[in-house]
Amino acid sequence: MRIVHAASEMFPYIKTGGLADAVAALAGALADKGHEVAIFIPGYRSVLEGHLGPGAKPSHKLKIEMGDSFLAGDVFTLNPRPGVTLHLIAREEFFDRKLPYWTGERDYDDNDARFIFFQKAVVELLRLTDFKADIVHCHDWQTGMLPVFLREAERRYDVTLALKTVFTIHNIAYQGVFPRKSFALTNLPEELMTIDGLEYYDQMCMLKAGILYADRVTTVSPQYAKEIQTPEFGNGMDGVIRTRLEDLHGLLNGIDTAVWSPSTDPSLPARYSAEDLAGKAVCRTKLLKEVGLDAKFKGPVFGMVCRFTPAKGLDLVLGAKEFFADENCRLIVLGAGEKKYEASLREFAATMPGKIAVCVRQDEALSHLVEAGSDFFLMPSLFEPCGLNQMYSQAYGTVPLASNVGGLVDTVTDLDAHPEAGTGIVFAPKQDDFTGGLRRALVLYADQEKYAGAQRRAMQRDFSWTKAVAAYEQLYSAAL
Ligand code: ADP
Ligand code: GLC
Repeated sequence: MRIVHAASEMFPYIKTGGLADAVAALAGALADKGHEVAIFIPGYRSVLEGHLGPGAKPSHKLKIEMGDSFLAGDVFTLNPRPGVTLHLIAREEFFDRKLPYWTGERDYDDNDARFIFFQKAVVELLRLTDFKADIVHCHDWQTGMLPVFLREAERRYDVTLALKTVFTIHNIAYQGVFPRKSFALTNLPEELMTIDGLEYYDQMCMLKAGILYADRVTTVSPQYAKEIQTPEFGNGMDGVIRTRLEDLHGLLNGIDTAVWSPSTDPSLPARYSAEDLAGKAVCRTKLLKEVGLDAKFKGPVFGMVCRFTPAKGLDLVLGAKEFFADENCRLIVLGAGEKKYEASLREFAATMPGKIAVCVRQDEALSHLVEAGSDFFLMPSLFEPCGLNQMYSQAYGTVPLASNVGGLVDTVTDLDAHPEAGTGIVFAPKQDDFTGGLRRALVLYADQEKYAGAQRRAMQRDFSWTKAVAAYEQLYSAAL
């Protein structure tokens, strides 16, 4: 099949969270299966600086209609691996910025124009190159309008650009909602801006467009597919989701074992496997040292790596102050995001010097070391569409503490409920339950045989994309 993926981030070019990993791994796995894959991402500053040689020339120059004017854009094209073409859509005004979505304090004011431009550029390039896609697969709100833009261009130019479209919701809480006047930038027929179309409480919603107009809608775990049909998890979109139940599928993400395997991971000081865990102890020592904690510490080490946003359950961690103060354990948190959490976590660490380390930055190598060097990995998310870290931690023999939501339900088996099959500690994302989970971890750690059993079972789980990609191939074929 000829498959297009369009997304606002992709590892290793630009990553703020799991979307980047999921898109890269899915696209790569499809190429490995022999499909022809074209990927589109915005040419952000760091992407162009990091991945284009000096004097790189654009492969295409675009003129994109945006309301009353036409804006120029450049496309840089790379071939990162056999079967994959990567198109970077560049325009200095929109993408030459340090961070992809926000200033670090608040969202950019022109995210509507930036991502309308990006999506229209994808469509225009598919037209200019006559790619003839079987499937155009869009990810999250930044590409939610692609299905409509595609069909509109096909009508205008009387061509076929794509046979079927798929829209994947990686997180329904991010919706791309903009003032009604942003609709003028789309150049779409006015009748689309109604309650049955893009309108959402008198505003324009890009996520809603994806849900309504793609041929198939998917989300990243079976459990989250059920949850988003409910008001509790639907974030106001549950009604719209319920209009697409026949075409809605929850397909679990995998993990890219070429990037996330303790036996080959180049970020680790020592490598290890389920058969021989000796290297894990070396990683633990290195981790403690690297974050400034006593490298000889003997008790349990809890690790956490996440975007600093309320959904990740950071308030539950901060709320467990007494636990961390009283118990003989260590906590290491790596992340960045909302300033409020950066400050409160730093303060948290300052109140318990030598016990808690908080690293506020984006650091891919350290994220691997936290996965490998911790004894337990914390994921007390309030909701979690799929979650990759709990899969990474299981692959690295690090027992996850995960709340009972979304993809965490589909990927972590509770040790109390299933003593013979358990791989982690599962709890409801509430303060008492989370603290109870932390206490269960201490008890488990004290029983090294039981702990080793959980580790071994976790490491033996197959979370690879081999399984996950087959589900997408089936979905594409069925759609076609
Ligand atoms: P989400 O996509 O909601 O952020 P996931 O669990 O799916 O959650 O994926 C998060 C990914 O982002 C993981 O690969 C995690 O290691 C990574 N990550 C988050 N924060 C950081 C950070 N500060 N430095 C390095 N990697 C990070
Ligand atoms: C989103 C979700 C996360 C998921 C990732 C990849 O960022 O928050 O749960 O794992 O996308 O699909």
